[in-house]
Amino acid sequence: MSTKGYNIVSLIRKKRDGNPLTRDEISYLIDEYTKDEVPDYQMSAFLMASFLNGMDEDEASALTHSMLHSGRVLDLSDIAGTKVDKHSTGGVGDKLSLILAPIVASYDVPVPMISGRGLGHTGGTLDKMESIPGFNVDMTLERYQEILAKCGMVMAGQTEEVAPADKRLYALRDVTATVESIPLIAGSIMSKKLAEGIDALVLDVKFGSGAFMKTHEDAQKLAETLVAIGEDFGIETVAYLTNMNQPLGYKVGNWLEVEESMESLQGDGPDDVMEVTHMLAGTMIMLGGMAKTVEEGIQMSHKAVGNGQAFDKWLELTEEQGGDASVLKDFSAYDHAEYSFEYKAPQSGYITEIDAYGIGMASLELGAGRKKKDDDIDPVAGIELHHKIGSKVEKGQPIVTGYMNDENLIEPSKNYLADAFTIKNEQPESIKMITRRVDREGIHPTGD
Ligand code: URA
Repeated sequence: MSTKGYNIVSLIRKKRDGNPLTRDEISYLIDEYTKDEVPDYQMSAFLMASFLNGMDEDEASALTHSMLHSGRVLDLSDIAGTKVDKHSTGGVGDKLSLILAPIVASYDVPVPMISGRGLGHTGGTLDKMESIPGFNVDMTLERYQEILAKCGMVMAGQTEEVAPADKRLYALRDVTATVESIPLIAGSIMSKKLAEGIDALVLDVKFGSGAFMKTHEDAQKLAETLVAIGEDFGIETVAYLTNMNQPLGYKVGNWLEVEESMESLQGDGPDDVMEVTHMLAGTMIMLGGMAKTVEEGIQMSHKAVGNGQAFDKWLELTEEQGGDASVLKDFSAYDHAEYSFEYKAPQSGYITEIDAYGIGMASLELGAGRKKKDDDIDPVAGIELHHKIGSKVEKGQPIVTGYMNDENLIEPSKNYLADAFTIKNEQPESIKMITRRVDREGIHPTGD
């Protein structure tokens, strides 16, 4: 069938009425949108119809294919080694890319990473890296390949050349309440990742209050969809389901998360952050052919942190991308926030829940995230938790410090904090961080 001449309103109506679109119809819609022939208002209607009615497997695969081919697909075959990347579906305090990429690259497994900005209440790797003075994430694809060849890793932003359809759709979904949809997330993630020229991919699919997938069941469906698309495109893809029912680590906000990442790379990382980091890094090392098993990869990951090789790799990359590495070794040299406030425990007891979404929003209110597409973010704004689920606290004890450069932002942030903590008399059960591994063989429980 011809890919020309569909009527956009008819396509929207078809989707609105719950009928699947053909591959050609999806391809036409995405191509026309990328060429600016379909305006944002029509695409918004299509996104909402897709959000409400879902997409079948064929539509999701067609969407990924069209978004992938809306731009250039990189060929990294000149660079030796199995190229492996990791992608997270988005969380609060999720700084894992900054820790695991240098771990993996320090074993000569090339990590070409194209990351996104914050979306909704979740942070974005690019915004974190840009909080390092001078760190440049905008580059040509030629420079991207040059850095990868030289450092064994590169951390770049999406250009107009790579999956441009996703770049525009991502921003549109953020402001039209159409983010939390399995096929739309799957198309967005996989089109970007497949365009990078990778050979294998590890996915961190989050479930819980701070994730786009609130339930374990939905996260599992998303993981299965992502793995199926990856394998369909010939990329070995492994996904883990990980817990996002409280922020990862203690620090939330761009520079704060860089600080915690650097601490982690020097052996002082929070337990939850390091557990997931080592599992993902170990799997990447295995997929990259440098370990026989994931367990061996995990041991190598621990070693790279223990002997400083991963931190050295990060410093090397920072300098290569124009960043000031001195502030990463001495945080006091960084220009910190002008104001801070403490949020105190409203009662004594055990912290049984920390709503990661609420903490993400409290941080966003302080300036760490965007409310509108073009908002500037404040790199130093954010939240530092002093306690996590399971901690015993006394009434009046500070449990959070907030940082910002505008005192007017304190109250809106505190409003989110007021609802974010549940404190009870009984000690809660400990949180299981990684619950499932999903790969081409199926779904496997992890650990106990
Ligand atoms: N991460 C992405 O890259 N895209 C989404 O849609 C959600 C999370």
